[in-house]
Amino acid sequence: MKATLFLHPKVLIGAVDKRLYGGFIEHLGRAIYEGIYEPNHESADEQGFRQDVIELVKELDMPITRYPGGNFVSNYKWEDGVGPVAERPVRLDIAWKALEPNTLGTNEFMDWCKKANTEPMMAVNLGTRGAVEAQELVEYCNHPGGTFYSDLRRQHGWENPHDIKLWCLGNEVDGSWQMGHKTADEYGKLAREAAKLMKGIDPSIELIVCGSSFSSMPSFAEWEATVLEHTIDLVDYISIHTYYGNPEDETAGYLAKNDDMDRFIKGVVATVDYVAAKKKSDKKIMLSFDEWNVWFHKSPTDTNSPEWTAARDLLEDVYTMEDALLVGGMLITLLNNADRVKVACVAQTVNVLAPIMTRKGGGAWRQTIFYPFAYASKYGRGTALKLTSDCPTYDTTFKGKELKNIPTLSSAASFTENELVLFILNRDLKNAIELDVDLSGFKLKKIIEWVELRHDNLKAVNTEYEELIKPVQKLGACLKNSNLIASLEPASWNMLRISLV
Ligand code: AHR
Repeated sequence: MKATLFLHPKVLIGAVDKRLYGGFIEHLGRAIYEGIYEPNHESADEQGFRQDVIELVKELDMPITRYPGGNFVSNYKWEDGVGPVAERPVRLDIAWKALEPNTLGTNEFMDWCKKANTEPMMAVNLGTRGAVEAQELVEYCNHPGGTFYSDLRRQHGWENPHDIKLWCLGNEVDGSWQMGHKTADEYGKLAREAAKLMKGIDPSIELIVCGSSFSSMPSFAEWEATVLEHTIDLVDYISIHTYYGNPEDETAGYLAKNDDMDRFIKGVVATVDYVAAKKKSDKKIMLSFDEWNVWFHKSPTDTNSPEWTAARDLLEDVYTMEDALLVGGMLITLLNNADRVKVACVAQTVNVLAPIMTRKGGGAWRQTIFYPFAYASKYGRGTALKLTSDCPTYDTTFKGKELKNIPTLSSAASFTENELVLFILNRDLKNAIELDVDLSGFKLKKIIEWVELRHDNLKAVNTEYEELIKPVQKLGACLKNSNLIASLEPASWNMLRISLV
């Protein structure tokens, strides 16, 4: 099977915002307690942060981390998580039927961010709370001093403002499961007031308004349009979420799911641009894809841990080789939409739907999905390029739906002054693809490396003790005149780096 790709240094998608490679840490399951924070662990630092986890987060190179939720934030009182730890209340977290000890809160999380080389992306509760509490949190975090909340922060031991730049106006308010769920109109009005007050305290902050929880929400598109009718002049981004799964073992269709993600993005872009046009506004609302991943191995009820306990083992999906392929594909889709998706957060970072897993008192390890993320984050920077591809297609079914003409290759490219990077997923489960990439517009030097992620067993997983799925350095690709030639194994994710003159 043969495929050709064409790209040119002058045919651009746009600048890649480094925040495309963000993460997410929610007060959920063992993400925080036993995840990033475990004071009795042998690798814990003076604040109780697991340094083995911090090292892995640094390897993922996540420029931002969303916090504290997720569904959790929609009933969270941020005041519970600040001040002397011994005086903090223990609460029932209704979102995840768990106990929240509040040992870790806003200030500790800010310290963790510094240690993990990531910037905070803070969500406010617009479910059960309102604009004023959001405004007060901005004052607590960002105002230098001399006011009630900023002085409270200083009294709590954090003299300097945290200067949090990026804020989420609630979480998944469109969903009936959300505490404080609202109609688009109700939410749009509340988000507008919150935005006014929050930017009133700190005009330099950027705001993300809630879009749809997934594309098949009945309210999708109408929700985005209504919410933006209320807020377009005050917000900068609209948030969207999606998770995919393969419960019935339909791998060929599953691996095409990043094309669905692409359609979702295009639909949101069309909707936000429609509102701008209608309002005669030249504002371009960008997208924050602040929850995306594979999620189907474990449901919230699929757990051995009793309800209303702390650090429950919730949503600890163990990812397979094929999940890593789809995650690689989703990163390709994000890169191909880099002109409009400026922020994205893999959901989540540690233990909960996560690239990093930990054992209490034990090790920290890389799940299969760790690798495509780490490579895309490290090398998928600079400027995204448009790719034209001519490759075989296939037909399949997924959950009873016919899928036709799926391109076997899903690919993206980015480049900096002296390097071109190609990310290519071969979705063909049986056949290698003989690839020929026309790079005649580039001044090529040499192939730096070809990294391949694949395994004969698509259900293979990594554990604390054995890393079955990890990338290998491949040989055999070559530059022939101005073309790159390589043979891509079936069901493989590939990254090719080429140095430029
Ligand atoms: O990431 C897990 C959950 O998925 C989040 O709390 C919620 O926002 C989404 O539904």
